[in-house]
Amino acid sequence: MSEVETLTIRRPDDWHLHVRDGEILQGVLAYTARQFGRAIIMPNLSPPITSAADALAYRARIIGALPAGADFTPLMTCYLTDTSDPDEIARGFESGAFVAAKLYPAHATTGSAHGVTDVANIRGVLERMAAIGMPLLVHGEVTDSHVDIFDREAVFIEQTLAPLLRDLPTLKTVFEHITTTQAVDFVTSSGPNVGATITPQHLHINRNAMLVGGMQPHNFCLPVAKREKHRLALRKAATSGSEKFFLGTDSAPHARDAKESACGCAGIFNAPFALESYAAVFEEEGALDQLEGFASLHGPRFYGLPVSEQTVTLRRDGADVPDVIDANGTPIVPFHAGERLAWRLAD
Ligand code: DOR
Ligand code: ZN
Repeated sequence: MSEVETLTIRRPDDWHLHVRDGEILQGVLAYTARQFGRAIIMPNLSPPITSAADALAYRARIIGALPAGADFTPLMTCYLTDTSDPDEIARGFESGAFVAAKLYPAHATTGSAHGVTDVANIRGVLERMAAIGMPLLVHGEVTDSHVDIFDREAVFIEQTLAPLLRDLPTLKTVFEHITTTQAVDFVTSSGPNVGATITPQHLHINRNAMLVGGMQPHNFCLPVAKREKHRLALRKAATSGSEKFFLGTDSAPHARDAKESACGCAGIFNAPFALESYAAVFEEEGALDQLEGFASLHGPRFYGLPVSEQTVTLRRDGADVPDVIDANGTPIVPFHAGERLAWRLAD
């Protein structure tokens, strides 16, 4: 019998993750901690994490929800609002309570109601962040009702991100969960202070997966998946070896009935098989040799953190994704539900 093929890489990190709070947190966190050494924790709780004290308390709840023996570090972020104070944000960063601040344009997505209505309102905060080297994490979509939802990322680049970086060219910026060729091109042609995360879903699916054969709410997230040509550009960027692109799952758990509803929530729960999902893409692209860079090296380099000294091993013997996952009493449908993925993370 031939031996099972294996792939060992440095332990990866997830540079964009939603773990929620309370019972759901307890139900979803172990999936991430099993694979990733660190994760950037999104602050869009209700109410959002807007102060150092909030972040420290949330970090303590996350650590309290870890399974015994888990080795996992949550990296906290601060949710920017129109009234964020530059001194407070800087103090939170310098004290280590936050590693970054998140810009949600108000009403762009789930949990963004308290977000920023105009970046001009946080100009002082952004100037301070540029001065102290604090990363800005951007949900890059305009919210203007006249802009087609499939164009909102591209328009955001033109109207907001490009002007912002022209004014503050040293601002360390992560363009989160990019979905378009325009975003790939923008990041590629920007300086080394601009990077991007790419989710598994935007590498696997295009917009047909949401809309063909009936509405598929479990493939709906924001920014929405776009046309096939965009998916192909994202695959090329992720597997290119460019240090500007790194792993960020945007795993966003919602209860099954909140997704399968007349107004279904945006968000895809991909945490349980995230690394397997990325590995499938890299294998299909003939680029398994680039997986470690994308998953484990480029992110730490961007954030100025050490790479992991631990390793994880993937085995090519298949992982069966269940139809539904019981997250501590809440049923959640995972990304790739019912599918078999070629690679499996070894225990
Ligand atoms: O699909 C999404 N879900 N996109 C976001 O930006 C937020 C996230 C969530 O928190 O559910
Ligand atoms: Zn997100």
